[in-house]
Amino acid sequence: MRKEFAIEGGRARLSAIWPDVLRLRAAREKFGPDRSFAIDRLPPAAKGAASLAFEGTGFKVLDEVGRVILSGREAGFKVGQPTIAIELQERDRIFGLGETTGGMNKRGLVRELWNIDILGHTKAIYPGLKSLYVSIPFAIILRDGRACGIFWDNPGRQVWDMGGTKGDELRVSAETGELNIYFFAGPTVEGIVKRFAELTGRMPMPPRWGLGFHQCRYSYMTQERVLEVARNFREKQIPCDALYLDIDHMRGYRVFTFNNKFPRPAEMTKDLAAYGFRTVAIVDPGVKNDPQFGVLQRGLQENAFVKRGKEDYVGRVWPGRVKFPDFYRKSVRQWWAREQQVLHRAGVAGVWNDMNEPANFALKTKTLPLDCVHETEIGPKTHLEVHNAYGSEMAKASRAGVLKARPTERPFVITRDGYAGVQKHALVWTGDNSSNWEHLADSISMLLNLSVSGVPFCGADVGGFLDSCNGELLGRWMMLGAFTPFFRNHSNIGTRDQEPWCFGEEIEAVCRGAIQMRYQLLPYIYALFDRAARDGTPIMRPLWWHYQNDPQCAATQDEFLLGESLLVAPVIQPGAQARSVYLPPGTWHDFWSPETFRGRAHVLAEAPLSRIPLYLKAGAIVPFVPVAQHTGEYSAETVTLQIWPGADGSFEFYDDDGISIAGEFYRRRIEWRDRDPGGVIRFHPPTGKWKAPKVWRIIAHRITRRARVLANGAEIEAHRDRDMEIVAFEVENSRDIEIVIA
Ligand code: GLC
Repeated sequence: MRKEFAIEGGRARLSAIWPDVLRLRAAREKFGPDRSFAIDRLPPAAKGAASLAFEGTGFKVLDEVGRVILSGREAGFKVGQPTIAIELQERDRIFGLGETTGGMNKRGLVRELWNIDILGHTKAIYPGLKSLYVSIPFAIILRDGRACGIFWDNPGRQVWDMGGTKGDELRVSAETGELNIYFFAGPTVEGIVKRFAELTGRMPMPPRWGLGFHQCRYSYMTQERVLEVARNFREKQIPCDALYLDIDHMRGYRVFTFNNKFPRPAEMTKDLAAYGFRTVAIVDPGVKNDPQFGVLQRGLQENAFVKRGKEDYVGRVWPGRVKFPDFYRKSVRQWWAREQQVLHRAGVAGVWNDMNEPANFALKTKTLPLDCVHETEIGPKTHLEVHNAYGSEMAKASRAGVLKARPTERPFVITRDGYAGVQKHALVWTGDNSSNWEHLADSISMLLNLSVSGVPFCGADVGGFLDSCNGELLGRWMMLGAFTPFFRNHSNIGTRDQEPWCFGEEIEAVCRGAIQMRYQLLPYIYALFDRAARDGTPIMRPLWWHYQNDPQCAATQDEFLLGESLLVAPVIQPGAQARSVYLPPGTWHDFWSPETFRGRAHVLAEAPLSRIPLYLKAGAIVPFVPVAQHTGEYSAETVTLQIWPGADGSFEFYDDDGISIAGEFYRRRIEWRDRDPGGVIRFHPPTGKWKAPKVWRIIAHRITRRARVLANGAEIEAHRDRDMEIVAFEVENSRDIEIVIA
């Protein structure tokens, strides 16, 4: 299917991308070049697909069997701007839309997609806060258990009115550009998000050290202070993998420099590496407009800076007056990647992109003038037309820079700003939140919506950035952070120190416990990353990801699933010693006690300060390794598989060297077949050549009777703990293993 026809105020083209994905493109007069900042390559047109039927000014989106999945009221250029209006039904919920505040379900909100530096999502999260740093114009509509999706690929300004003005209407308009909409027919959320990831690109596998705990601060002011923090972690036996250099390592905030408080950066990073720490340095786009500054000089030679009229535009950020690299051009990205080598020669392992909306203190609008011109790969575009892609294009340059330094290693790049597809270049952190309970709670919805918007690798500043944290908030937030894909503690200049040891021994122990749990769970988390890298499945998932037919799951925004098996219910209120937890349909086991619950019900979870309520789905197989102080000490020689019975289940174990791009791997499906009593564990034949675990230590839970354990037919010795209701034993790894617990 590939049709061209007239549409209100312009011409439209309809094509099928996949059987379940339609594209509607419309232009006022002539179609521009078909180039996207989100999509690298479109697949060839598909056949036998979902379809779109126009009736007057309205239209209907039909799935493969002709069922109406969306009713459109309008599509075209009625008031000059490209607009689409879709009818909402009473119970529709709207999820996704990348990074926005205001709760998980966006129904009833108006959001403007226009990347902006909002200092602190403000202390309270208020409904009027319309824009944030990242814009992903992709939303999922969940209607009575059936999902469909919409993506409008346009990096200009968009307004998504999701039933805010007219309760029964989703109205999206863009200020510039074409109508360029992808409809995802669904019906499963999983199918839609995988397609979206296929379209906009998947997160490449990060290095394992990127999954450890990271410590940041604005700023560690001296080389000695950085080393002191590192030593503290090791002395206190609190695992940590990375320390960050915020802007105060630079000479007058000149990008890619070190000041005299960091006189020997290469020595510092070497010392840090000896302790097992990687160093990540901040890189802001604005280049100080100092004629003596080499980066500026070489940038001028490259004609690398964004222009307004004939002149380079000069704005203002931390360094004072700055010029902004025109990252939309390949030659500029290559130049930037070359400049970045200063950092890598000094031993910096990862790059942290900030202020890349880009932020500009010189204007009230906080960014570049809208008439600045970018020399993009499809010709000149005004800033107004391509604003939202600036951060992603910068992240692309940074990634190229890291790869240039270490071509065989998986880069670690973090960004504040981005557009759809940003996950190909960097992980996203949610910027300047505040140290308060509301922001802790809202971070869950933000990360869940980012996760279903194609960005599985994401995190919030743990402990909160603005304002001073307190012990209880830090403890609770560290426990939550330990289960989010990116786990970094960060705080603002002038706030109270927020490292794990800053609030007394009790909180230190709570933080240590949270981080230790993270390191023990690394093989589980790593396998989820492997899956996300292969098919876009989020690591951190809303309950409705697996239970989209259950209305209570669709309404629950203060819990999440890490993978399919682990339900995390963080404490989000001060002083709380317990919380109510909604358990989805099925059987669930309490992690902390030998209690089992029927799902589709609320339970009361005890939650003293040292405990985050966790539940395992019946049939769960979760791998653990011993605590390491950093991932350099990671060992999967002995892997403990904890199994929670009550249903069949499976898990795909994944391991590799943690860093190589095209290295060897070891992947193996492990299955639990539930029998009453006991069950059967089957290890399917592994694939890949990476070294295999030597020993599987198995802990089967909820075994209340004396059980016999047979490994490949022969009885083996097993330890039984009656109070804990577990049976534990070890088997040597081999190609074929079948274990019967009877
Ligand atoms: C921005 C960033 C923050 C950083 C600060 C100084 O506010 O969001 O993380 O610490 O700039 O670089």
